Amino acid sequence: MDIDHDADLTVRQALFEQVRRHTGIAMNERKWVMLKGRLRRRIMTLGLPDYSDYLRVLDTSADEVRDFIDLVTTNETSFFRTPRIWDYLVREFLPNWTASRAGDTLRVWSAAASSGEEAWTTAMLCEEHRAQHPAMRYAIVGTDISDGILANARVGHYAGRSMESLRQQRPELVQKYFRSDATGIGVSDALRAHVSFRRHNLYDVPRDLGPFDLVLLRNVLIYFDVDGQKAVLANVRRAMRPGAVLIVGESESLSRVADGLAFEQPLIYRNEERKHEQPA
Ligand SMILES: C[S@@+](CC[C@H](N)C(=O)[O-])C[C@H]1O[C@@H](n2cnc3c(N)ncnc32)[C@H](O)[C@@H]1O
Repeated sequence: MDIDHDADLTVRQALFEQVRRHTGIAMNERKWVMLKGRLRRRIMTLGLPDYSDYLRVLDTSADEVRDFIDLVTTNETSFFRTPRIWDYLVREFLPNWTASRAGDTLRVWSAAASSGEEAWTTAMLCEEHRAQHPAMRYAIVGTDISDGILANARVGHYAGRSMESLRQQRPELVQKYFRSDATGIGVSDALRAHVSFRRHNLYDVPRDLGPFDLVLLRNVLIYFDVDGQKAVLANVRRAMRPGAVLIVGESESLSRVADGLAFEQPLIYRNEERKHEQPA
């Protein structure tokens, strides 16, 4: 069954509201063509005649809500996305860490981890740093709201553009930290020992996450409105140690929303003295 007609305004608004309710992502009429493109196939697969029927399914099925979240989120990512922040990690953050906190475990949060490239990139750089500083310990948690994309992150197998670009940028790291098996090219056990993934909605208080020394919150704030960004940043701060570093994406600015986060250099902020309680 095909849907050959558009949704009327009320139904479109109700769908935008469902997106906001389940993900906090702010959508409006300008996003309708994209949203329609993502939902249409699903609605046809379910054999539903209309977008309004789909809204009724969403109201009654938790499984459908999970699929809906997978569909409406944008999961674009890559290894070493935005090279300057990885330079910062290698040249400043990790050496400073080793100099001041050598005996502690470095705790890192990839807070909108998508298919995992950001978490695995961090793990490769920590491993490289550890080769020079064998006492270093680190643990990386990747979280995302989409169960579907997190399943890919956990499997840690990469192909196509993602792998090609890593091979071009850092062939020596592919050689060192990836293994070929019958199902493809996957991250090695050396990295897996330090990285875990779990579902977390950034609008929820991170009660059992952290405290972290480094948070990567990149290319996700852009999907939220100003109030949403403020709420998410307040939550993220609750899981950061005082003095911890927060890194955002290239098109994200915290100038209007960064209560308690001091600008350090472009894309990089430092958590000021704690105003919130430690997570339980
Ligand atoms: C464009 S990707 C960014 C991936 C990676 N951080 C990067 O910069 O390459 C955005 C991710 O944010 C996730 N996301 C969207 N809304 C979220 C929310 N409310 N809580 C947690 N994750 C969310 C999406 O599922 C998606 O995987």
